[in-house]
Formats: sequence, C-alpha cells, structure tokens
Amino acid sequence: MSGIFISFEGIDGAGKSTHIDGLATAFRAQGRVVTLTREPGGTPLAEQLRTLVLNDAMDAMTEALLVFAARRDHVIRVIRPALERGEVVLCDRFTDATFAYQGGGRGFDWNVLASLEHWVQGGETFLQPGLTIWFDLPPEVAAVRLVGARVPDKFESQPQAFFEKVVAGYGRRYAAATERFARIDANQTPEDVWTDVLAAVRQSGMLP
Ligand code: TYD
Repeated sequence: MSGIFISFEGIDGAGKSTHIDGLATAFRAQGRVVTLTREPGGTPLAEQLRTLVLNDAMDAMTEALLVFAARRDHVIRVIRPALERGEVVLCDRFTDATFAYQGGGRGFDWNVLASLEHWVQGGETFLQPGLTIWFDLPPEVAAVRLVGARVPDKFESQPQAFFEKVVAGYGRRYAAATERFARIDANQTPEDVWTDVLAAVRQSGMLP
C-alpha cells in the first residue's frame, strides 16, 4: 500500500477537528488526494452504527462489537481502497479509541479487543495507522471546554472519572507502540497545538 494513513485521538473536548482540516489542506497543497473520514462511521452502514453507539444504552461488549463492525465496513470499503490508490487517509479516531473508551473507560477485556483488532484489521497485511496523533488533555480541562459547547452525546455526558480511565487507556496503547504515536500537549493555544501537529507530521516524513 502506497498511501498514508493518519489517525487522530484524544478525549472528547481535546480539539482534534480544526487540526485534521488543517492537515488535509497541507496535504492537498502537496498535490495529494485526501480522504477525510471518521470513526465510528465513514460509510452509510457505519454511520448508522455510530448513531446507535452514541445514543443508545448498551453493555460494553455490545458497544465494542458494534464499533468493530462499523470499522470492518469502513476498512474494506473506504480505508484500504483509498490507501491502495495512494491517497492520504485522515481518520478522526480509529482502534485506539476502542481500547481507550471500551477498554479503559468501560473496563471491557483488553485481550478480547486485541483479538477483534486482528480479525477486523487483518488480511494480507495488518492495517494500522502509520501515525497516530494523540491530543493529550487533562480531563478537568476538557470538562471546562465541553460545558455549553453543544448537546452532549452518551460519551460526552460521562463524568470526569470516566475520562480519567479513557486517558489511562490511551496511555496504555501509547506505551505499547510509542513509535506509531505523536503525543501532543493539547493544553496549549490552538496555534501552538497546530505547530506541534505539523512538526510531528513533518518529522514522520509524510510532509516536507
Ligand atoms: P467524536 O469523535 O468526538 O465526534 P464528535 O466530535 O462529532 O462528537 O465522537 C465519537 C465518540 O465515540 C467519542 O465520544 C468516542 C466514542 N468512540 C468509542 O467509544 N469507541 C470507538 O471505537 C470510537 C471510534 C469512538
């Protein structure tokens, strides 16, 4: 696969969106074709599953199975084909979010998640982002940012203690694969965060 696959992670309120758009612009300026997508979601089926996962109460295993079902559809219909065409895929959340939210936040079995990851992202080659940008933000700062921002979904309305476990989940994924991650201090001005994001992508060699 000749494409570039970057995922973006962090707790709700960490401020990923503007930087994802900024990177899309930067890659397009290099003449690259960019596929901007998100999880759960990115296909009509996966978007329907997203609506369920973000709004309906369910046990942690059901949640994990639904996000991986959405991911399977997304991987085979959108992500792998785009990478095979040599495109840049910028994905707002990917599997690290499942480990962080369902594994860390909800306490679902880490080893089962690892098995599902191999089932869903396996094949001739195992699919994993070439770079994962983790917008690391203390939950108490995120909570302040989220107040009044919009009507909170199921996850956004969780207490701070939940997000502390989500951060711990991200930390565990990070520790197991530091070479794949760029850990960005998201508790800075948007301008300073953007400087760090751009530096990380350049350092990876994906942008000149
Ligand atoms: P998010 O990416 O924050 O989108 P928006 O900015 O539109 O709210 O919302 C996705 C939510 O889904 C977020 O709270 C994290 C959660 N999520 C999981 O619980 N597991 C997953 O595997 C993924 C991809 C997301």
